[in-house]
Amino acid sequence: MSAAAEAVSASPGISRAVRDFITKKRKILIDGKWVDAVSGKTFEVYDPSTGETIAHCGRSDKEDIDRAVRAARKAFDSGPWSRMTPSQRGRIVWKIGDLILEHLDELAELEALDNGKPISVARVADVPLAADLFHYMAGWTTKLEGNTLNLSVGDNLAPGTAFHAYTRREPVGVVGQIIPWNFPLLMAAWKLGPALAAGCTVVLKPAEETPLTALRLGELMLEAGVPPGVVNIVTGFGEEAGAPMAAHPEIDKIAFTGSTEVGKLIVHAATGNLKKVTLELGGKSPNIILDDADLDIAIPGAAMAIFFNHGQCCCAGSRLFVHEKVYDKVVAGVAEEAKKIRLGPGLDPQTQMGPLVSTTQLERVTGYLESGRKQGAKALAGGKRHGDKGYFVEPTVLVDTAPNMKVIQEEIFGPVVAAIPFKKFDETLVAQANDSIYGLAAGLWTRDVGKAHALAARIRAGTVWMNCYNVFDASMPFGGYKQSGWGREMGQQVLNNYLENKSVCLAYPASL
Ligand code: NAI
Ligand code: MG
Repeated sequence: MSAAAEAVSASPGISRAVRDFITKKRKILIDGKWVDAVSGKTFEVYDPSTGETIAHCGRSDKEDIDRAVRAARKAFDSGPWSRMTPSQRGRIVWKIGDLILEHLDELAELEALDNGKPISVARVADVPLAADLFHYMAGWTTKLEGNTLNLSVGDNLAPGTAFHAYTRREPVGVVGQIIPWNFPLLMAAWKLGPALAAGCTVVLKPAEETPLTALRLGELMLEAGVPPGVVNIVTGFGEEAGAPMAAHPEIDKIAFTGSTEVGKLIVHAATGNLKKVTLELGGKSPNIILDDADLDIAIPGAAMAIFFNHGQCCCAGSRLFVHEKVYDKVVAGVAEEAKKIRLGPGLDPQTQMGPLVSTTQLERVTGYLESGRKQGAKALAGGKRHGDKGYFVEPTVLVDTAPNMKVIQEEIFGPVVAAIPFKKFDETLVAQANDSIYGLAAGLWTRDVGKAHALAARIRAGTVWMNCYNVFDASMPFGGYKQSGWGREMGQQVLNNYLENKSVCLAYPASL
């Protein structure tokens, strides 16, 4: 262990369980066993609030992916997972949710340390939502039903013959899942829950920035009774470990969450064996406040829409459209909220916003702040890096923006909102809100139910929140229009990502 890792692990804020977990070199999970990468290489994991090394993880490459896929293939083709009754499978998936709740404090702490998010938030959001996802999906294992079909073809083509036809829902096979760093445990749950409920086997690659909670989840999954090879967890970098998954001929389906840029690379790589692809990508979501809105909820709501998770949300309400009648009051209010937010390390229970996840993200976000400044935007709050240690950025509210600015057009993925006044609730507003290559989410604040539903129907986005924002539930599908992705996460709908549909047709004599 490095001196830095020793310093962190000796800090009084860290529990014994987490200290033990991070001080051991973390291995990768293949075929139910924790093993080193074939190359023997590791990579360092950092505490984003200090930049110091906290752990070492196995650095997987193509050879490790091949081993993981072989294990997943064997577990799918001949292993116990596909032969188990749905009820048995459901009980194991449910147990994963139970074990997450049993280890809630430990997982929240590990997440706060690794990702930088406030532990108070991880305790009430990331960890319980992850547990809930497994509990919700456990119920689906016994309800994956097909249909009975009434064919008419016998009349013309085969007189005297009748058909008994039905559909079966079957698991798509071996699934590769590549996830990002903004909600490390929750993204693992969103991906693993439905894949396991459907009866698939999995190779999961967490983000190199935040591999720790997925590895701990791997241990809990084995404890829950997930058989060897059903879930394999390979840590490593995108080009070295992610790319061979996307191109792998023995993987039937790939599910990806991350940047739109890498999403496109995945689609190209998947063409080799035409594996199924689902993508959950970027966003530049409009959040619209009408002049009749209850500003006591809309102002803190608009602040939460952007500042939750430090703005590192694909659905962040980053373009704030405000009716000109209430514009000054709203932007001043959101700026006030921004200034009140207490920044600090994720592990400090008083922290309300932690650091960004990495130096790369710090540079990216401060680069956007610089570009906004150069193009003429003004910061009512924030506007720069916070301190000189760790990757903190001040919660920022930009005004005096113009449609051609990069801060209006591109995903910033940091605590930066750009405010835009509008004159009327009309087609121009709808067109402006929809003027993005993305279509992930939208927010609307109004007391007028008619306007609310009219606008909800016109917004080209996968989720529309009205008088609320960032509401996630295992039962509610989430995903994007346009370049925000393909397919949906969560709800009944996500199961379509992991199920094939088989038509079975039996001929029999029409008369006895
Ligand atoms: P990224 O898309 O590079 O990383 C996400 C995952 O993809 C990681 O597990 C990474 O290892 C993997 N990956 C990277 N290159 C790959 C490749 N060639 N083949 C297969 N897998 C690959 O995202 P990054 O670089 O961490 O963040 C860049 C930007 O992406 C952010 O600023 C943000 O705008 C966006 N982003 C969006 C997320 C979302 O929730 N939709 C999450 C994270 C980032
Ligand atoms: Mg990248």
